[in-house]
Amino acid sequence: MALVFEHAGYRQVVATPHTVPGTKWMPSPATIREQIAELKKAIRYESLHLTVLPGAEIALGPQVPDLLEQGVIQSLVDNSYVLIEPPFQRLPMGWKQFFFELKSKGFTPLLAHPERCEQLTDKPKLFEDLVSMEIYLQVNWGSFLGHHGSKAKIAAFYLASRGYIHCLATDSHRPDQHFVDSLEHGAATVEKFVGPKNLDLLARGNPLRVLRGEPLVDMDVEDIRSEAKRRRLWGIF
Ligand SMILES: [Fe+2]
Repeated sequence: MALVFEHAGYRQVVATPHTVPGTKWMPSPATIREQIAELKKAIRYESLHLTVLPGAEIALGPQVPDLLEQGVIQSLVDNSYVLIEPPFQRLPMGWKQFFFELKSKGFTPLLAHPERCEQLTDKPKLFEDLVSMEIYLQVNWGSFLGHHGSKAKIAAFYLASRGYIHCLATDSHRPDQHFVDSLEHGAATVEKFVGPKNLDLLARGNPLRVLRGEPLVDMDVEDIRSEAKRRRLWGIF
């Protein structure tokens, strides 16, 4: 995967193993570090230059804020950011309280692929609720290309049209996935829709801010509108 990422032009990636409290998927921060140290040896051996940083994709659940506070589970790159994965069907009861608690403990949630959660795609008003709660949203490149089905694709474009996205990510699990092959196509698709400045913000500027633990910048909605107007895409709004 390191090879694939480096060839695709990445210089830094955050490894985010699935973390699901209460199951066997609970890699400790120490384990994640050890595995990354092993990976670094392989990267050097292959004469690659990719930097891999520790992270975790944490399933949304009531124990998460306490476990993070206790240092039992890994945040993103050891700063206040945490990558939270919503379920694919329905959000659990009390999810607003969950985010409130997370934030009150000083963590900054970045929500992974909300466009893949059926409850959200069926009721887009909930996206607004998330944004008004100042939850940052991270969308998959592949969703714009239909890799996760038509509902996720429609939701990805909806989120982009509203300027609700903060970061784009690969959601890659294996080196044989088509995500990197289609990265260029994905970037061109997103750029056509939101304009080059917004693309740069989502693909580079904001991910760098996450690494530095800085607040993220919102998309420029005027840029999205003028891009749509220029390309006569108004019909889709
Ligand atoms: Fe995920």
